[in-house]
Amino acid sequence: MRKIIWLLFLPVALFACSDNDDNSVELTPGEITAEKEELGRLIFFDTNLSSPTGQSCASCHAPETAFSDENHASTSPGAVQGLFGSRNSPSVTYALYIPQLSYDNENETYVGGQFWDGRSNTLAMQAEGPFLNPIEMGNPDTATIVAKLRNAEYYDRFVIIYGRNNTVGQDFHYMADAIAAFESTSIFKRFNSKYDEYLSGKATLTADEQKGLELFQNKGKCANCHPLTDDPVAGEPLFTDHTYDNLGVPKNPNNRYYTIPAAYNPEGADFVDLGLGVTVGDAAQNGKFRVQSLRNIAKTAPYGHNGYFATLKDIVHFYNVRDVDPGFPPSEYPETVNHDELGNLGLTAIEEDAIVAFLQTLTDK
Ligand code: HEC
Ligand code: HEC
Repeated sequence: MRKIIWLLFLPVALFACSDNDDNSVELTPGEITAEKEELGRLIFFDTNLSSPTGQSCASCHAPETAFSDENHASTSPGAVQGLFGSRNSPSVTYALYIPQLSYDNENETYVGGQFWDGRSNTLAMQAEGPFLNPIEMGNPDTATIVAKLRNAEYYDRFVIIYGRNNTVGQDFHYMADAIAAFESTSIFKRFNSKYDEYLSGKATLTADEQKGLELFQNKGKCANCHPLTDDPVAGEPLFTDHTYDNLGVPKNPNNRYYTIPAAYNPEGADFVDLGLGVTVGDAAQNGKFRVQSLRNIAKTAPYGHNGYFATLKDIVHFYNVRDVDPGFPPSEYPETVNHDELGNLGLTAIEEDAIVAFLQTLTDK
């Protein structure tokens, strides 16, 4: 696909950049990839691409917090003051390994898809969403974004890769293509956490971490959905099988999405997030969200699709006692809640802490 795009626009690029037969702009496939990655990085961090300006992808996906919200907001503010999305900004590290959304007949579950509800199939398709989302980067249309691109300092780089005489639609797709290339670079897949070093014999786990790993696999049942086995695509464990479940997460009373104008959220505080059910148009899937990778999880608080849980300890405690502790409010969507694998695990407080200690070994350097 990338090769085809390049071949298609090579003549345009040459024509635009040189008036002799000097092939100096001709890049090797490796150089094209490197150029795209750098262009994608520049777009990802460009705060001029929102309306009003001031917000980039990195505003909600900052490198310091494994490309999640560095302010640790349960839901991040949009470019327009006073607007907020309904969901927590996830880490973008390891998102490149999320497969396309499909239905697994054998295990009777949906698998894959970007976003908490799987509504976008690839990183490139995903990247087109935030630019136009009124409660994120807020641009009215693609022409507005592409006009900003064509005025950007890095537009010359864009032209070398994708050519100059494209339609607005084509340029918008190419921007997303470059972002996806950046999001596939090594900083999004470091695989160098303490746990990775432990697997390769370069580090030893403390007694607590070791105990947490054992509980994660057995008594805690975490590995049922966050497997320790190698991901088939990544070839390393990602601590997710990319499937969907309803954990019974309560509504987050502090969700600022409830307070935004009715033009954006007509239901106000009555809003119920149906998750996967809306994506696939099937009420049996309502309330389900995709199992997240737990890599870098210690950096990305708060937790859950609506950021209900402030700390790792809070969410582990919820898994442990949801069904036996009257302290938790009801589930946001009770009908499809999983009662088999969580809710009454019988973990002691010390065991909960050990699981947290293990989760903290999953942070990349
Ligand atoms: C205002 C905050 C905000 C901005 C700006 C933003 N995002 Fe996001 N991003 C989110 C939220 C919230 C989600 C989850 C939304 C959902 O599931 O509906 C998300 C989801 C994602 C995902 C999917 C990850 C996963 O695990 O499913 C990727 C990839 C991503 N964003 C990349 C980007 C890129 C690229 C940009 C810039 C073009 C961007 N984001 C701009 C908040 C933001
Ligand atoms: C039945 C499948 C299942 C089991 C068992 C399970 N999880 Fe999860 N996990 C999920 C799903 C699905 C989500 C996202 C749910 C949501 O936000 O609504 C999730 C989310 C999380 C998150 C938050 C991720 C984020 O980015 O906010 C953490 C942390 C977590 N799980 C840890 C654990 C631990 C620790 C255990 C064992 C005590 C465990 N999980 C057991 C399915 C599971």
